[in-house]
Amino acid sequence: MSMIDNFETVEVQTDILILGGGMAACGAAYEASHWAKKNNLSVTLVDKASMDRSGAVAMGLSAINMYLGLAEGNNTLEDYVKYVKNDLMGIARDDLVANIGRHVDASVHLFEKWGLPIWKDDDGKYVNEGRWQIMIHGESYKTIVAEAAKNALAELGDKGQYYERIFITDPIMEGDRCVGAIGFSVRENKIYIFRAKTVLATMGGAVHVFKPKSVGEGLGRSWYPPFNSGASAYFTMKAGAEMTCQEVRFVPVRFKDAYGPVGAWFLLFQAQATNALGENYMQTRANELEKWGPYGKAKPTPTNLRNYLMMLELEDGKGPIYMQTAEAIKKIVASIPDEKESKRKLKELEKEAWEDFLDMTVSQALLWASMNIKPDEKPSEISATEPYFISSHSGASGAWVSGPEDLAPEGYKWGYPNMTTVKGLFAAGDASGASSHKFSSGSFTEGRIAAKAAAAFCVDNPDLPALPAEKIEELKQNILQPLEIFETHSGYTQDPNINPNYIRPQMFMFRLQKIMDEYAGGPSTGFKTSAPLLEKGLEYLEMLREDIAKLAAEDTHELMRCWENIHRVWQAESHIRTMLFREETRWPGYYFRSDFPELKEEEWKCFANCRWNPETGEWEMMKKDIIDMVD
Ligand code: ADX
Repeated sequence: MSMIDNFETVEVQTDILILGGGMAACGAAYEASHWAKKNNLSVTLVDKASMDRSGAVAMGLSAINMYLGLAEGNNTLEDYVKYVKNDLMGIARDDLVANIGRHVDASVHLFEKWGLPIWKDDDGKYVNEGRWQIMIHGESYKTIVAEAAKNALAELGDKGQYYERIFITDPIMEGDRCVGAIGFSVRENKIYIFRAKTVLATMGGAVHVFKPKSVGEGLGRSWYPPFNSGASAYFTMKAGAEMTCQEVRFVPVRFKDAYGPVGAWFLLFQAQATNALGENYMQTRANELEKWGPYGKAKPTPTNLRNYLMMLELEDGKGPIYMQTAEAIKKIVASIPDEKESKRKLKELEKEAWEDFLDMTVSQALLWASMNIKPDEKPSEISATEPYFISSHSGASGAWVSGPEDLAPEGYKWGYPNMTTVKGLFAAGDASGASSHKFSSGSFTEGRIAAKAAAAFCVDNPDLPALPAEKIEELKQNILQPLEIFETHSGYTQDPNINPNYIRPQMFMFRLQKIMDEYAGGPSTGFKTSAPLLEKGLEYLEMLREDIAKLAAEDTHELMRCWENIHRVWQAESHIRTMLFREETRWPGYYFRSDFPELKEEEWKCFANCRWNPETGEWEMMKKDIIDMVD
């Protein structure tokens, strides 16, 4: 009997299929439900986990990092677009950033209506952390937003469904159109076939492609949620979608070891980061910024350049690097002449500092407690972490999507907003590229934009396409193969972890991470790489790919681990190939090409796009123009 016989196949038909359950997916469910009601469409959302606590906002947040305050007259959309593009060293799609920017405030107002507590000043205005960021009491942020998304689906009656604990593996294609997705339950022996008129990929970015700094007893600690493992990138690539900015990884600087957020300290408390000698390297190394074209002069200094100056300090042996929390608090308190009032302020700051961690990174609060750190008495170490693939914070990788009809220049639009280059397949949040800095609120907003467009696609393409039956049988077999391998061979050795017939997913992941760390510019090589290193890495990656056919899983949970790693390998390969293609160093502090150590504005101020061709299995690399809409 084959493993497939032990599995029930469940087929679900829907008009709009939303893959994922994070902020972008919740925004999509909310918006899709609205348009579905008007057009008598059905909407189905599928999450690998549980919507209440899934995705990057699972643990909560202490700030919403994208709020423009346009109605309040605080900012202009043009300024936001300029800010985002400078932060990415000139590489961004202005049309996509502006489209999210003009709608994001309305989404934040919805969050508040649904019960999210946002900090207010005495005049009832939002408290800004920085120019574009507002403070929230956000421990339950995701739960609140998920509840609203579920309520919106419920309003559709049996035409609005959500499925949890279903891991999506592959797209289902019919010719050049995406017509559904296949996956399996991580709790029951069930394979799910979702048949749809349109599919929206919102399955987040990728973590643990690179070896993390937290290993051994710390394994699993990461800045981005460990459950986001490259499903969006794999899904869109496998469908044949063109991808953009796959060379751009994000390396966040965090409080060391527990990954606590730094934004509130830098922006709200105006703290400084220094080397061990107490020198502010942003001042002492200011000359270095001149080497990086117009971006070195931009204010604020791009995130990767801030990282880079810190990395230079460490290379010179001037670490540890500290966030001068005590100094910042003393300065604020000293600015209040009234003694009673300054004491009250001290207490308030202390409370805010702890809440900043407790809202979004509880383990950092535990680390402070266990190390006897009082932020008003001594500084805390900060550190560059490891590379992540996202486009919502200061990364940019993802699918190349069509822009909004009224804003996108020719060349940036070919269909419905946020549709990838594959018919019927849409992407948003960390799944869509070149629209950085969308964060939680922008991802939710982009999910709404994409879902509205997907609904329009359904209205224009009312037929539910047939599914390719033979191909689906092949996919099923392939998905369950690791279970079959384990069952057949695990009795061969006494220790099921050591077996010449297979590799278990954790070992597979370690091998992937070692290749990426040593050859593709990971933390252990100081984020440096070069063509010979990348080519060698690609050679080893090809060998690792061969071992995909030997992955083994003891149960459906481990089967998920196998597939997470298959997804990661695709993210890794597109990353290496695109770093090789871009022969310059554009984002020092994220990665450095030691064979091309300089910015080459003439030749490389462009998008580096790639596409895996499903017909030939070959990769195509291409340059795409940057079309500036603001100076
Ligand atoms: S968070 O996701 O953990 O909240 P983070 O702490 O990195 O993010 O930063 C929060 C916000 O502040 C982001 O919008 C980030 O770009 C911005 N930011 C952080 N540090 C600085 C800085 N030194 N200068 C300017 N902006 C900063």
